[in-house]
Amino acid sequence: MIKLIELRKLVKVSQFLALLLLSSASHAQDATFIDNVLTLPKATVGEAAYALELGLSVNQGNYDFGVLAAAEIPFTGTEGASVFDGAVLRVPTVDVGGTNYSLDLALISGDPIIFRLSSYAEVAAPTPTALAQATALFDESIETQIVQGKCIVCHKVGLLANDSGLLFASTSQGSAATNLGAFANYLNGSEAARTRILSMVTGVGHTGGQQMNAGDEQHQALGEMLRLLLEHQAGI
Ligand code: HEC
Repeated sequence: MIKLIELRKLVKVSQFLALLLLSSASHAQDATFIDNVLTLPKATVGEAAYALELGLSVNQGNYDFGVLAAAEIPFTGTEGASVFDGAVLRVPTVDVGGTNYSLDLALISGDPIIFRLSSYAEVAAPTPTALAQATALFDESIETQIVQGKCIVCHKVGLLANDSGLLFASTSQGSAATNLGAFANYLNGSEAARTRILSMVTGVGHTGGQQMNAGDEQHQALGEMLRLLLEHQAGI
């Protein structure tokens, strides 16, 4: 508990300086480690939150961090925050030269405050969900180039493919989401529906004729996007 009070005291003392130093960086959410300075945009102690800058010094093979600057910031929960439990400051992720690490910094001195690196581990980059990947691919390579560029002239209410089971919306804010949804509804978890789309766009049994060549870049993008949608629908 003494440690906690010490931290609060120090925070008050250095607040003015810290606010000057951190005002530019305070919007950044991720911890960084640059030029031996560990910047923690959000470190929580109980229900208080601080932006901290810790300076690294190597002492007899130990990695020690002293407080360079600290500023109290509004407490908005501990999500994504470094959390100090009175003994250990846990940094969930910090980019060090392109690799993300989690760090445990043990408080070894209260006055001055010094943390010592007690353990670290590499943090695997989270894999985006199948739906997120499908959405990204759709926005990047399909909505404009394929749906608006090729399909919409027929696959829209009132046009030639009005009675088909695949209707799109013209470009507008939100049309990409609507059109991704149209593909998702058409698929409805069925691999056969995916195969049907992929063969019809090459002209097989399609009143709309050949829209792309089997295996070309657009055909592959469409196939991959539909595969990801199915993966999402299967709950993988
Ligand atoms: C020149 C008009 C035209 C264009 C362009 C066109 N289609 Fe079609 N498409 C149709 C018509 C008409 C039908 C309904 C009759 C049929 O099945 O051939 C259809 C049917 C389909 C079906 C079967 C729907 C069902 O009910 O099972 C799919 C899948 C399809 N099109 C995909 C596409 C895609 C994807 C594109 C864009 C790359 C596209 N089409 C471009 C006219 C078109």
